[in-house]
Formats: sequence, structure tokens, C-alpha cells
Amino acid sequence: MANSDRPVVIVGNWKMYHTIDTSLAFLKDFVPLVQNATCQIFLAVPFTSIGPMAEAAKGTNVTIGAQNMNSAAEGAFTGEIAGKMLKEAGAQFVILGHSERRRLFHEDNAFVNAKVKRALFDGLQPILCIGETAKEREEKRTSEIVKSQLDQCLANIPKEKLATVIIAYEPVWAIGTDQPATPELVQEVHHLCRGFLAELDSKEVADKMVILYGGSVKLDNAKALLEQPDVDGLLVGGASLSAESFSEIILKASAESIALQDDTKQESHRIIEDDNL
Ligand code: PGA
Repeated sequence: MANSDRPVVIVGNWKMYHTIDTSLAFLKDFVPLVQNATCQIFLAVPFTSIGPMAEAAKGTNVTIGAQNMNSAAEGAFTGEIAGKMLKEAGAQFVILGHSERRRLFHEDNAFVNAKVKRALFDGLQPILCIGETAKEREEKRTSEIVKSQLDQCLANIPKEKLATVIIAYEPVWAIGTDQPATPELVQEVHHLCRGFLAELDSKEVADKMVILYGGSVKLDNAKALLEQPDVDGLLVGGASLSAESFSEIILKASAESIALQDDTKQESHRIIEDDNL
């Protein structure tokens, strides 16, 4: 969070957990715990929960969104869902290109690019997930992989819309493994990504873009991650499922964003040498 111009955004990704009933019970407990939070709070819930949750979250500081959508406006795609359907149900954002979608459902960068374009067209804020696998990291290809994911997934996005896309760097080896990336490594990759985004458009736009980290985020590592100059927030899976654990992370992030407003953080970007990139 080097830049107080960028909001601090904390996103919960519920994956295939929570029914409508348990979603609403979560919200009832969660809202009072986070009502004074100074960061933005996003919750990506299962499709069936979007409508009831969007309705119940009205007037609160919790924004409801989806975890996936198809790239087509509509059509004969059994089992798929269109952006305008999500929007109608009350979603305001959508996670796209999550590594579970890429790995288990064979989504490639071209498909994710078409989804990003469709989401923007439909008025949904995209959260674009990128990140290398363990093998790619071992092969020292992290930089090449995240650059090609950004270049391809963000190809031909209208310039005025690019700054509204949220990027989530989620190294695949850190997701659901209890092996989060170190804050230093996350900062290094985020800094690289911001440079790649500047090449795609301009430094001015790249400096406005929110870059989140995701992968085994818990209360005990949230603060150190958020202290990194290019980390603007977190994408939280497992720890977002309970109101208690997710609210604790939100409160940490709020404290961090207040500290950021109080003292203008050192602008110098700390670059750690890591020859694994
Ligand atoms: P995790 O999941 O926090 O459970 O590692 C993160 C994600 O998949 O977005």
C-alpha cells in the first residue's frame, strides 16, 4: 500500500462453500463486526447466494460479487452463466481466471481475456487472477508467466477501462496449502506486475491499479503482506468462510489503511533480489 490514492480492498472468495441459509447467517454476524472498517470489503459468493446476499447487504459496506462467468452475452452453453445475469442478481464484481478455473476447467488466457471484456461491457468490475505454478517457479519463469498472463488477459481492453480492473497475484503453490508466499516475494512480483501494467498502458494508469495478493492469507500474515508498498489488498479463500476470521483480517487491513493515511509511507520501492524469478 505505497499509495494512499489506491483503496485497500479485501476480497473473500467462498468457492463452493455456503448455502443461501449459511451465507445470510454469515452476513448477520459479519456486518456489525466490520461496520467501521476503512477498507473496501468484497465477498465473492456462490451463484445461488448472489441475489439474497446483494439484497441483505444493501446499506452496508459489503459488496457482493461472483466467482466466474462466461464470455458470451447469452447462448446455448448449458450450465454457464452470463455477466448480465449476475448483474441483474446484484453482483457488482466478478473474479476471473482463478487458478482453479484454469487448472480444473482448462480456461486459457484468451478465454479469460474475452471474459474480462464481457464483464466490463456488462458493468461488472473484473478481478483478474494471475500466478505461476510451483514448477514454473522452480524453472525461474515467474516473471515471464505473470507478464504473459497480464498481456494476454488484458489485450484490447479500452484504455479508459483498464484502471478499473483489479489484479490478484495468486501463486498457485500458495493457494489452500498453508504455505503463503513471503511478503518480500509478493512485493517483488507485485512491483514487476505494476511495471508490466505500465508497459501495457502508462505509469499513471499502473499507479492507479489495485493489485491484491492471494494464497493462504490468514490473520497472522495479513499485516506483513499489507505493509508492502505494492500490495493494495488481499484475496482470501479459506479464512473468509467464517465471519470471525474474515472480520479480523478486515480490521487489520483497516488499521493498515489508517496508518497509511496518517504517515505518507516511504515511496522507495523495496526490491529484494530473488533469482527464482
Ligand atoms: P486460500 O485461497 O486463501 O484458501 O489459499 C485463496 C484463493 O483461492 O483465492
